[in-house]
Amino acid sequence: MEMEMSVTSAPRLASADIARLDPYQFMAVIGKRVIHPGGRHSSEALIDMAVFAPEHHVLDVGCGVATTAIEVACRFGSHVTAIDISPLMLQRARRNVLASGLADRIEVAEGNILALDHADNSFDRVVAEAVTMFVDRPRAAAELVRVCRPGGRVLATEFFWREPPTPEAREVFLGQVCPGMQIDTLEDWMTLYRAAGLRDVQVESGPFEMMTPRGFLVDEGLARTLAVMGRCISRLSYLRKMTWLMPRIQRAVPYLGFILICGTKPFARPN
Ligand SMILES: C[S@@+](CC[C@H](N)C(=O)[O-])C[C@H]1O[C@@H](n2cnc3c(N)ncnc32)[C@H](O)[C@@H]1O
Repeated sequence: MEMEMSVTSAPRLASADIARLDPYQFMAVIGKRVIHPGGRHSSEALIDMAVFAPEHHVLDVGCGVATTAIEVACRFGSHVTAIDISPLMLQRARRNVLASGLADRIEVAEGNILALDHADNSFDRVVAEAVTMFVDRPRAAAELVRVCRPGGRVLATEFFWREPPTPEAREVFLGQVCPGMQIDTLEDWMTLYRAAGLRDVQVESGPFEMMTPRGFLVDEGLARTLAVMGRCISRLSYLRKMTWLMPRIQRAVPYLGFILICGTKPFARPN
């Protein structure tokens, strides 16, 4: 994928590159800011569960375009390290952080949830909204817990099946829209994060509304929703991608939900 990298201006992608973008990268390219299944509602619930404080050092893994990182730094004065594996996301995250005026509190860096560059026990809060589900889940969950300090909290948002999907809905979503992604049941996700070492696990769940008209409007507001729609119809390759994506996502919407998990890393027991 050819991209000219600059912090202030987003690179113009070739049509063939747009066709190859995953749905989340595509959402970022057309200007969507909230790019996870629970939308703003789950980010607000995450903020409530995390209880951020100004002295906290927060790690946001798979930060996307840095929407939650900016929200946390702005509202709570915490220092946030926002990492992502995708150059396209990092470019937009850096631009958004710069525009927010919070570059002194948010550091944006490349990083992989499967092998975090940080020492054990480095962060007070570790956040991963819609990331673990794309990768080796036990390994990713173990990394999130490893870099959290004892007594600190790990918070993650994931997709889950609220209802068993029809074979067609499953194939369309996991075979075509998000190839390679794995979705578990609510109980499976809780088991995974407990096995990674979290205790006092709290859970909230709800429907997947990010791509419904109502969810889109709630997440982005009217002005941005109109801007995103305008961008979509401004280029044939965007329109093609959107008209391919939307009906396929809609087929899975009735069965999908988000789960938000918050757990505490325990202090080691003395021998
Ligand atoms: C569904 S998006 C969520 C973005 C952001 N957390 C949000 O909620 O808006 C998933 C993000 O995870 C990133 N990602 C995928 N695999 C990753 C990995 N191995 N390490 C770090 N980030 C990863 C993607 O680049 C993308 O930005």
